[in-house]
Amino acid sequence: MKRFANASQVVTCAGPARARRGVEMADAGVRADFGVAVDGARIVAVGPDAELRARYPAAEEVDCRRGVLTPGLVDSHTHGVFASPRYEEQELRASGMDYMEIARRGGGIHSSVRSLRAVSEDFLVEATAGRLMRLAAFGTTTVEVKSGYGLSLEDELKSLRVIARVAARLRLRLIPTFLGGHEVPLEFRERANGRAEYIELVVNEMIPAVAAERLARFADVFCETGVYSPAESRTILGAARAAGLGLKLHADELTACGGAELAAQIGATSADHLAAISPAGISALASGNTVATLLPGTMLFLGKTRQAPARALVEAGVAVALATDFNPGTSPTPNFPLMLALGVSQLRLSASEAFVAATVNGAAALGLAAETGQIAPGFRADLALFDITDFRELPYWYGDERCLATWVEGESCHSVQTL
Ligand code: NIG
Ligand code: FE
Repeated sequence: MKRFANASQVVTCAGPARARRGVEMADAGVRADFGVAVDGARIVAVGPDAELRARYPAAEEVDCRRGVLTPGLVDSHTHGVFASPRYEEQELRASGMDYMEIARRGGGIHSSVRSLRAVSEDFLVEATAGRLMRLAAFGTTTVEVKSGYGLSLEDELKSLRVIARVAARLRLRLIPTFLGGHEVPLEFRERANGRAEYIELVVNEMIPAVAAERLARFADVFCETGVYSPAESRTILGAARAAGLGLKLHADELTACGGAELAAQIGATSADHLAAISPAGISALASGNTVATLLPGTMLFLGKTRQAPARALVEAGVAVALATDFNPGTSPTPNFPLMLALGVSQLRLSASEAFVAATVNGAAALGLAAETGQIAPGFRADLALFDITDFRELPYWYGDERCLATWVEGESCHSVQTL
């Protein structure tokens, strides 16, 4: 047994084991001078330090050194499997070329597809494992990782096998998502009936193969003007559901094309991005159970001034999650606490709302709300310790690296020192 003691605050996020909506997001359950008792992989007790010390005298004590102990952060949206960075596009955007214009000229996602197809599975395992440990260094303990830079049967399976191999190697919990519908690959775009043929390939070959090998828990589609229409997205996700996969959707990122409405209609677990969501999209999400996953780093990095209407979503009663969108094109940062900072300064969430969005609601966006994201008895002992004394400092020291250590299921995942 382990007993975490001597924290200045514990951010419990404790409450119902489901996504939090509206005013429920305003209470992150911050407790001063609390400790946490862990037996194996699970949390068994949370309470005043002195009480836990008396109750579990034989437990190994982990000294939190007056830092703040939080649930391990749950990053529910990343594209972590890629071969190379795309720094040259940042300068192109600075000189006035838009993200979608770069894609139309064969850059963007197409560029990542070319580079991923050219490297081996072994190369990708090393590259991905190294990058995901950078995410772990900022306090993340669960990471959703999408394929989507392969866009052929072989290269999508290669990407998903990379996630499985990295998951077996690292203590970090990885949740794989099949994103064969990330783009229409150039070799299909150039053919007369290419779009329909590629969608057939996704539906008839890729999804069955992914399901047969149990390589993904979710399927996702980039539903956006110029990429996949809502009707095409529905076709792909319908096949994914029939194959037993959970559903996610890149929705209304750059244009309001009905993505949020589609996500709500098909009961997707999450609708992600939403910077351009319409009032009808907000109402649709508010009347269902789809989590709205907001990715403020993406708009910032793309140089856009627009951000998702987080306040309107929270006030309409939509469960809001935050994530990094870690990827080589639009959000190459492993720093989840930076997203909390943007959550407060750009999305106008309170610090408590930002914590709930990054833990409980991130877990709900992965169907894991009963497993992780809370410091409460019965939950997995996924914890992060930060070098701060008040929880509001995490979204305050923006860009700083304050994470001292993380634990996944009670075992050390990341540590800057021997704690
Ligand atoms: O979430 N929007 C689509 N997909 C990624 C970016 C992909 C890329 O540019 O490589 C995103 O922003
Ligand atoms: Fe994305």
